[in-house]
Amino acid sequence: MELIVADDPSAVGRMAADEIAKHMSGRREFRLGVATGSSPLATYVSLAENHRTLFDTVDINAFALDEYIGLPQGSPATYRQTLLQTFARPLGLPDEALHTPDAWAPDPHAAARRYDELVRDAAVDLQLLGIGVNGHIGFNEPFSSLSSRTHVAELTEQTRRDNSRFFPSLSEVPTHCITQGVGTILNAATLLLVAHGAAKADALADAILGPVTWACPASALQLHPDVIIIADIQAAMKLINAGPAATPRQPART
Ligand code: F6R
Repeated sequence: MELIVADDPSAVGRMAADEIAKHMSGRREFRLGVATGSSPLATYVSLAENHRTLFDTVDINAFALDEYIGLPQGSPATYRQTLLQTFARPLGLPDEALHTPDAWAPDPHAAARRYDELVRDAAVDLQLLGIGVNGHIGFNEPFSSLSSRTHVAELTEQTRRDNSRFFPSLSEVPTHCITQGVGTILNAATLLLVAHGAAKADALADAILGPVTWACPASALQLHPDVIIIADIQAAMKLINAGPAATPRQPART
């Protein structure tokens, strides 16, 4: 596991975009796992600003981590629309290159299984991740299985409150979603987690320094052989304060 501490959120985005470009370079095809929320936005901006030509030369397929259940199809708050607007279109990718769970299928459980097969067969090269303040990755909330595959999940009240900033009111935030499971996420060859802001400091410390436990789904990253974490100083504060105690598992690179 490699921890890189950046000065601020835009530096996190630049370094993460450079890391993605490094993995893509020289490849004819690349399967990129993408996340939504505010954490990856600066990465998408920097990819479009600094690495747009790479996206013209590599055959990219992108796979979302999750999708809300219950929103009108095509509504701007869906993760599909969000990723088309913030990631795929600015990079000139055709809409078909972005794969998202079919949350509108009559049987969302069957749709989750189909999506899991799609992601598994694609073999994601690099998965970009954010982390929830409660330690979730994707929408795998605390006390969900660390070996789960893509499934229908219920959002905690905390996550619904956190995400209500993207909706007119809390009552409009969906209660359920389809999310890649932690087991599905861990299948990606490389995991790149980006975090910024003091609100993420506890979750990041629990994930990296704490025990591997379903109480903190992101702690499962400790089980993966190729993890890069890029965090700003505020998000990494507890790791920095842990000092030498953090170094046996997390050699910090600045
Ligand atoms: C979104 C996702 C979530 C977010 C997490 C952090 O696709 O999978 O795990 O990464 O909720 O959200 P932000 O970045 O908005 O703080």
